[in-house]
Amino acid sequence: MRTTRTSMVILAIAVAATAAGAWIGWQMRDPQPATPSPVAASSGEGRDHWRATYDPLHFKPAIDTATDAQCLACHREVLDDTVRETSPAGVRAAASKAWYQQLSTYQGAQETFHRRHLLTPMARELMNLRCNTCHQGHDPREEAPGSSATSTPQATTDFTLRKQVDVETTCLKCHGQMNTAIMGLPAPWPESKAVFGDSCLTCHAAIRTRRHQVTYLNAAAIEAAGQQNADTCYGCHGGRAWYGMSYPYPRHAWADMPADLPDWAKNRPTQSEARFQLPASARP
Ligand code: HEC
Ligand code: HEC
Ligand code: HEC
Ligand code: HEC
Ligand code: HEC
Repeated sequence: MRTTRTSMVILAIAVAATAAGAWIGWQMRDPQPATPSPVAASSGEGRDHWRATYDPLHFKPAIDTATDAQCLACHREVLDDTVRETSPAGVRAAASKAWYQQLSTYQGAQETFHRRHLLTPMARELMNLRCNTCHQGHDPREEAPGSSATSTPQATTDFTLRKQVDVETTCLKCHGQMNTAIMGLPAPWPESKAVFGDSCLTCHAAIRTRRHQVTYLNAAAIEAAGQQNADTCYGCHGGRAWYGMSYPYPRHAWADMPADLPDWAKNRPTQSEARFQLPASARP
């Protein structure tokens, strides 16, 4: 008797689970969510989470021409959310500074990654980053390039395994080591800067002067700020280096450039990455 009752209970649970599974499956396939989602309200009519995850804007070619407003229609949180006031372990954000927040240019309260690059006064002054400056597509399923014949190919520089960006073609541009060896500096910048009047322009007023002519930087504002404070320059060229290596910058020809090509420069490009080049009319 007891065994029969137990099997009845198990059967009832199995039936309930099957029904719930079927209902969830049907819900996922159903293009009309029961309550209108913010997504549907803001742009694509009748889209559900699953369809939004595979929105064409996440992939080539649409991501190349996507505007920030199009991305933010669904992802406002990346700019709206701010950091916790106190970490779960009890550290107050306002009372802690990381090693990369010691440059004289660091200002304001702690901010999230996206806000630091897109919204803070320094970001707006020196840079002109867009969502698709860094985001060139990702893979919501395997989080890996080359996982199928139709996915982004393995050779891509759009994103790398388990990441949504390619750090070597984005972050490294502004967070690599300062290549002091090729500059002929006697010691790392913090130790040698006094010898050069604490200014990069002591040398760079005449060397590699064709710089920052790219869509995501404000070249004139950078020169003005760098003249006042070398930490502005150093910040993007070693002062916040997350990597042990330096970025292999393109080497643009400059006036009075020596005719001899140094060995280290033999494989360097002589132009910025094509997708960031300014239209000819905007170049100085
Ligand atoms: C129609 C709404 C919609 C639009 C437009 C949209 N996204 Fe998304 N995005 C989503 C959804 C939904 C996900 C999946 C979130 C999840 O499942 O955690 C997602 C995931 C992502 C992820 C990966 C998050 C992760 O944790 O894997 C990134 C990065 C991203 N979107 C960036 C962008 C960028 C950049 C744009 C503009 C080019 C954009 N999105 C446009 C809805 C959208
Ligand atoms: C400076 C480069 C950069 C820019 C500019 C940028 N992102 Fe991101 N974004 C990242 C990185 C790095 C991550 C974390 C990726 C990972 O975890 O693999 C990320 C993560 C995300 C995610 C996943 C959720 C999260 O918050 O971690 C979304 C969604 C996203 N970005 C949307 C956007 C949108 C929308 C814009 C434009 C308004 C934008 N991003 C601009 C680099 C950038
Ligand atoms: C075009 C230059 C540029 C690129 C590309 C760039 N960053 Fe930054 N990053 C900056 C600048 C400038 C700051 C300092 C902002 C400030 O102090 O207000 C910064 C600050 C940071 C910080 C510190 C934030 C804080 O609040 O202290 C982190 C972390 C960071 N970047 C990570 C990344 C990662 C990861 C990528 C690649 C996805 C990236 N950055 C790409 C210029 C860049
Ligand atoms: C002693 C003179 C000198 C000083 C001071 C100096 N540089 Fe340089 N820098 C050079 C020389 C020389 C080169 C290589 C020129 C060439 O391409 O042949 C160079 C190259 C560079 C490059 C390109 C690196 C590459 O891999 O192509 C960057 C970026 C750079 N300097 C930034 C800075 C910044 C930022 C500062 C200040 C924090 C600074 N430099 C201070 C002399 C100097
Ligand atoms: C916001 C970040 C940022 C700041 C601030 C910054 N740089 Fe750069 N710099 C870059 C990036 C990114 C590139 C590569 C651009 C490209 O691909 O053409 C670059 C390229 C260069 C180059 C190589 C030029 C060439 O031949 O193409 C030199 C030299 C240089 N910077 C020096 C400086 C000096 C000097 C300052 C201060 C006046 C400075 N940078 C400030 C991000 C920055």
